[in-house]
Amino acid sequence: MPVEYKSFPDGESYLRVEDVQGEVVIIQSIVNDRDFVSLLQLVDACQSRADSVRVVIPYLGYARQDREFKMGEPVTVRAIARTIDVDRVFTVNVHNPESLEYFPCPARDLEAAPLLGEYFKKLGLSEPVVVSPDRGAVEMAARAAEAMDADYDYLEKTRHSGEEVTVKPKELEVKGRDVVILDDIISTGGTIAGAARILQGQGARRVFVGCVHPVLARNALIRLFNAGIADIVASDTIERGVSRVTVSPLLARALES
Ligand code: R5P
Repeated sequence: MPVEYKSFPDGESYLRVEDVQGEVVIIQSIVNDRDFVSLLQLVDACQSRADSVRVVIPYLGYARQDREFKMGEPVTVRAIARTIDVDRVFTVNVHNPESLEYFPCPARDLEAAPLLGEYFKKLGLSEPVVVSPDRGAVEMAARAAEAMDADYDYLEKTRHSGEEVTVKPKELEVKGRDVVILDDIISTGGTIAGAARILQGQGARRVFVGCVHPVLARNALIRLFNAGIADIVASDTIERGVSRVTVSPLLARALES
C-alpha cells in the first residue's frame, strides 16, 4: 500500500495510507523518535480498516534502556512496547528478549545471526573464529559460527588487581586466524574498536566485524576502520552502506508461519 509522508510547517509528522484493506503487515524500524511516531500513525491508520495488523520492527531502538539503571529513569523500551497493541509483533535480534513481554500482544524475536554467518562463510576466511565482545552476545556468535562451520568464543575481562585487567578470548587462541567480531548493535563503535585492538594484539590475522543493527552513530565507521578492521558486514534492519545481508527471507518465513 503506498504511503504519503510529509511534515507540517511546525515539524509534526503527517502520513496517509492509501487503500487499507485485508491483512496488513507494517514494517518499520525505530531508529529515532520520528520513526516511533510514524509507526504509531501507521498502526492507527490501518487498524480501523484492516482485517488484521501485524507489525515487524526490524530494529527496536531504545531496547538497551531495558531497566532502571538509576533511580528515576524510565524503562523506555517498556514505555514504547506498551503502545503497540496489534495482532502480532516481530522484532529481529532485540537487545534483550525479555523486553518482548512488554508488548500487550503476542511478540516474537527473529534471529539474523545465521544469515551473517552464511555471508562470512562465502568469504573463505582462514581458520575463522567468531568472537563476541562480551558474554551477553555469545549465543549470537555461536549461531553465526554454526552457519560458518567455525569456532566461537567471547572476550572475557579478568581483574588481577586494582590496576591490572586483562581482556582476552575465554577459551581460544586467535593467533594467525581470521576473526569475526559479532555483536547485535554497533552504535558509536567503541565496543568493537576496543575488541579489535585486543584481538590484533593477540596476533589475529585479520579482524572482520559483523552486526545485525548498524546504528553507526557519529563517526563510528571511521573509528572502526581506524582500528584496523578489514571489513564490516551488517544486515538491513537499518539501511546503511554496510548493509550487505538482507533479513527479508527471515521476515517472509516468519510472516508465512
Ligand atoms: C551492548 O550491550 C550492545 O550489545 C552493544 O555492544 C553496544 O550497544 C555497542 O555500542 P557502541 O558501538 O557504542 O560501543
